[in-house]
Amino acid sequence: MHAVNTEKEKQRVGEQATALIENDMLIGLGTGSTVYYFLRKLGEKVREGLQVMGVATSRQTQTLAESFGIPLVDFNAVNELDLTVDGADEANYQLQAIKGGGGALLSEKLVASRSKRVVWIMDATKLVRQLGNVALPVEVIPFGYAHTMGLLQKEGWEPVLRQDKGSIYTTDHGHYILDVPMNGIHDPHALSVWLHLLPGVVEHGLFLDFADTMYVADGDQVVVMHS
Ligand code: 5RP
Repeated sequence: MHAVNTEKEKQRVGEQATALIENDMLIGLGTGSTVYYFLRKLGEKVREGLQVMGVATSRQTQTLAESFGIPLVDFNAVNELDLTVDGADEANYQLQAIKGGGGALLSEKLVASRSKRVVWIMDATKLVRQLGNVALPVEVIPFGYAHTMGLLQKEGWEPVLRQDKGSIYTTDHGHYILDVPMNGIHDPHALSVWLHLLPGVVEHGLFLDFADTMYVADGDQVVVMHS
């Protein structure tokens, strides 16, 4: 691996991913600091005449897309999206990812699930052999969240209630996030199913069978990986 200059790599990979966008596409717009560069470049192309519509996965992305002049459409008004481009907190060589560091996992998963193609963009520091070096975000409803934490604790996990400037962090959908340190995930599918069965859990950050392509920036190169 080359020397890491993460910001430059985010920019390179974000801008390069705009090459996937063709006229008349309906695009899922992910969330985060890597997606920022994708949106900025896409906005340039729209101003040059590229015709696309986007579905934003967060208020943050909505604001950015609007400021870059990317036309948006309500997710409820569309059937299927052509392509979603999104970041990831960590991904393995099977193109499975942990997402939700930016708190937008619920909308991101919904939009990815309605997309013909899903592409993760990231810098090479996020590529791992086994998922679980980063904490897994688990989105829970505020009502009884302490009990949902307790259910996780009973199974040996140590969930941390996400904070933002001294207050409980709240998602765009009014939920809380529990960040659960993992120390390596041996069976992501089993964990995904188990978490979905926990009372109070709305969604979790394991994105296992979504992406067909990953753009990974490593130094001056962008490595394209396919499932
Ligand atoms: C937001 C996400 C982001 O895609 C993920 O956190 C990566 O963000 P960044 O590109 O800023 O590292 O899942 O919910």
